[in-house]
Amino acid sequence: MVRQALITGGAGFIGSHLTKLLLDAGYNVTVLDNLSTGSRQNLAQLAGNPKLKFIIADVSDEKVLAPLVRKANVIFHLAAAVGVQLIMDDPVNSMVTNIHGTEVVLRHAAHTGTRLVIASTSEVYGKSSKVPFSESDDLVFGNTSKTRWSYACSKAIDEYLALAYHRQSNLPVSVIRYFNTVGARQSDRYGMVLPRFVNQALQGKPLTVHGDGSQRRTFTHVNDSVDATFRISQHQTTIGEVFNVGGSVEISILELAKAVIDRVGSSSTIETIPYSKVYSGRGFEDMARRVPDCSKLDQAIGYTPEHSLNDIIDDVIDTYTIRNLGFDSLPRVAEAIR
Ligand SMILES: NC(=O)c1ccc[n+]([C@@H]2O[C@H](COP(=O)([O-])OP(=O)(O)OC[C@H]3O[C@@H](n4cnc5c(N)ncnc54)[C@H](O)[C@@H]3O)[C@@H](O)[C@H]2O)c1
Repeated sequence: MVRQALITGGAGFIGSHLTKLLLDAGYNVTVLDNLSTGSRQNLAQLAGNPKLKFIIADVSDEKVLAPLVRKANVIFHLAAAVGVQLIMDDPVNSMVTNIHGTEVVLRHAAHTGTRLVIASTSEVYGKSSKVPFSESDDLVFGNTSKTRWSYACSKAIDEYLALAYHRQSNLPVSVIRYFNTVGARQSDRYGMVLPRFVNQALQGKPLTVHGDGSQRRTFTHVNDSVDATFRISQHQTTIGEVFNVGGSVEISILELAKAVIDRVGSSSTIETIPYSKVYSGRGFEDMARRVPDCSKLDQAIGYTPEHSLNDIIDDVIDTYTIRNLGFDSLPRVAEAIR
């Protein structure tokens, strides 16, 4: 029997890659997305596939959601307000989407007992300095006047809700804490650092580093992230558990800017901008290092990220190079010229 997957936020960056993976694996896939940050363009390469159904609606629209949940064998809940810039600009809607939207999905999945994987974030570790971050570590947030932490807190509430539904209603749910996931089709519109750098380097503009650039991060190729996401959904032992999904190579943001200039072959310079100027008056704090411990994931499903940082940068460069040339079907062209 053909299996049915429902992906909320499937027209977004990670969701579109997961949609392709599931179709390739033989699933019928329904994407539910309100196109707030996602786009039809992200699914352009899959248009016309009879196994793909695309529904434009809000995830909290229960009349739309309920029959889709009833039909699904597995649900991936990715719909969320994502990106530091977006959260700083529109904190109310971001929190409502992330908390209310997730509760609706959890409640309906609990009703039918459907296998569910929900997306959380490395942001939940907050200001913790106990690096690398492991799933059992404490979460350390700043005070509530710092808007930045509202994203982390909303996702932490999602995690509490998911684990509570698991305990109280036996919901077969797993939680994924994605660390910076990057690759083709990620937009630079909502403050994502790598697409922004690539776009600036391609245009010969200065690369704008927020803060002094000493903050260190890891980056995960989206193919590694969606592969882990799918495999988590396939294992019984991952039910009721939280997993880090992230990369293994740590790099400072300043080093990342230099690497992008180098890979693009750009003459761009680098400009540092203090956080107070980037997010004036809206309360912003950053963390020095954000590095995952993925040993729990490795034990559960066998996880080693396959893609290097250069692969990741090159994929993002392809996206922007092709977009600048004005092609419509970005992913297909990107694959063809590689
Ligand atoms: N990309 C990363 O590095 C990263 C890191 C940590 C966590 N995550 C999580 O992974 C998930 C996917 O993120 P992404 O990077 O693909 O971002 P994205 O913005 O590309 O995808 C989110 C998708 O959800 C849709 N959406 C938003 N609100 C919705 C609503 N109310 N109803 C229906 N659809 C809605 C958007 O239109 C978009 O297509 C999110 O839950 C995010 O918090 C991503």
